[in-house]
Amino acid sequence: MWNAVTRAISPALGRCELSHIERTPIDVALAITQHHQYLRALDAAGCRVLTLPEQAGLPDSVFVEDVAIVLNEVAVMTRPGAPSRRPEVASVAELLCHHRPLEAIEEPGTLDGGDVLRIDRRLYVGQSARSNTDGIAQSRKLLAAHGYAVQGVAMRHCLHLKSAVTALDEHTVLLQPAWVDRGCFADFRIIEVDPGEAHAANVLRIGDALIMPAGFPRTRQRLLDAGFKVTAVDVSELQKAEGAVTCCSLLFRSDP
Ligand code: GLY
Repeated sequence: MWNAVTRAISPALGRCELSHIERTPIDVALAITQHHQYLRALDAAGCRVLTLPEQAGLPDSVFVEDVAIVLNEVAVMTRPGAPSRRPEVASVAELLCHHRPLEAIEEPGTLDGGDVLRIDRRLYVGQSARSNTDGIAQSRKLLAAHGYAVQGVAMRHCLHLKSAVTALDEHTVLLQPAWVDRGCFADFRIIEVDPGEAHAANVLRIGDALIMPAGFPRTRQRLLDAGFKVTAVDVSELQKAEGAVTCCSLLFRSDP
């Protein structure tokens, strides 16, 4: 069974970190409603949803994906690249330590979970403003012990690697070619986002189900045409906080 760790939205969401988009007003009440719909989509996809209480003083804390890499064998607590986000780590570690042995990225390393794309035993890690060379090297060393290969990936014009590319299954990726080179994923079948839907590459895979943001109908049609089962969820207010669907949960199996 899949577990999905999530966190209730902070009332301070409007003061979130932003890197590549303009700040626009966020309707926090609507964000909370949309987050509930996201939780229902996780439930419908077969997840047991665990929702941590809000952290009022931590605007970005709903984006739990960034504070850990959870694998079958181990969880690595990250050291987020934005200093404002580092206090988010401890409470998620308190929960995950009941499910996995914990490791941690140490200073001077930085790593955001949003930069980590796992496909089978390979982890692709975005060389972003949030994940530095030392953080990627630490993750490579920690995870080699568990049989995973970690590979840095150059990227541009977006916050995290998973803004630019996500896995649809073990053989197929959804990719935004303006933000990451196709050649980095030459071993996979590549479906590109529709050229008019720049932010559509962030899709959450749970088994054979996919959750993607509403508002990208042409990319969604490409996935349907390729035979994928897709649920669209409106996360417009989270998108204003430079979030999407992968970043709002940490998925791991209870029967690894
Ligand atoms: N607002 C998401 C982030 O910058 O981490």
